[in-house]
Amino acid sequence: MAAIPPLASFPALRLRRLRRTDWLRRLVAEHRLDPADLIQPLFVCEGHRRREPIPSLPGIHRLSVDLLPAVAERCVALGIPAVALFPATPPERKSEAAEEAWNPDNLVCRAIREIKRHVPELGVIGDVALDPYTTHGQDGLVRDGVVLNDETVAALQRQAVTLAAAGCDIVAPSDMMDGRIRAVREALDREGFQETVVLSYAAKYASAFYGPFREAVGSKAALGTADKKTYQMSPANVAEALREVALDVAEAADMVMVKPGLPYLDVVRAVKEAFGLPTLVYHVSGEYAMIRAAGERGWLDADACMMECLLAFKRAGADAILTYAAMEVAGRLRDGRTAGG
Ligand code: PBG
Repeated sequence: MAAIPPLASFPALRLRRLRRTDWLRRLVAEHRLDPADLIQPLFVCEGHRRREPIPSLPGIHRLSVDLLPAVAERCVALGIPAVALFPATPPERKSEAAEEAWNPDNLVCRAIREIKRHVPELGVIGDVALDPYTTHGQDGLVRDGVVLNDETVAALQRQAVTLAAAGCDIVAPSDMMDGRIRAVREALDREGFQETVVLSYAAKYASAFYGPFREAVGSKAALGTADKKTYQMSPANVAEALREVALDVAEAADMVMVKPGLPYLDVVRAVKEAFGLPTLVYHVSGEYAMIRAAGERGWLDADACMMECLLAFKRAGADAILTYAAMEVAGRLRDGRTAGG
């Protein structure tokens, strides 16, 4: 943004003049949240009419497949364009080599088909990474304690094609292996899925804010004390994030994501300015949980803080936001409540 020369000065100029009333503040708002900016992540579990609360994500539940169409309809009614699905795979379905990831009848594929059958106008995003399916909880295949790159990429190709065949509109590699965007694109095209969108989790950091998510999908216990630092990025780096995005853009990623969100607003801004392609941000589980937990103690107005954080993503340049608060915030926006107004 260009610096604005001082055209006038106090007392003729008074910046508070435009903050005086609600209608004036709304009139001059530079950024606005819209339900069309929001993507709702959904956790899926086995069973029938199951709705399991997730203790570290207050207000969020794991839902069995039969309950998904109703939630999908609510998203559409609220103006939310898409949901992102994450399966809580039963432990007996996990293995060292993650074969369940390309089982066409796995939990997430059944979830995709159920939503697409009942609510075809809602976009469905499927995660491409092996962690829901591995007994060790890593996103890739492991040999001698090392997460293997190229072998994992081959597995991700099978997983991505399986998701697309189930009807998934957007496949989202969140694994951070090198070269997986080109490989996934090629596999999709080879199998006739030219229209399937690839959303790359291009700048994904090795973050401590993923804790509640790992509890929700059951990868926390599997992972134990291990970490993902040999493939997820160091929180110290931003130039490296631009290299990651540049590579994924060259490999034909349609959209990119920065993750987590709030501690990485500078990365969102840098990526959007450098590449200009659709840039999404993931307001991750730990960020959501912090606000909810403080709200429950009466330390913060959680609803207002949630709106403020999501607006900050727009201000930083994000085109869309994955947030566990998508439905509640869309509801508040529909009722005419704004952030910052
Ligand atoms: C892993 C994955 C993670 C999240 C989404 N996909 C975390 C991880 O690396 O374990 C985290 C999302 C969140 O915390 O909300 N493929």
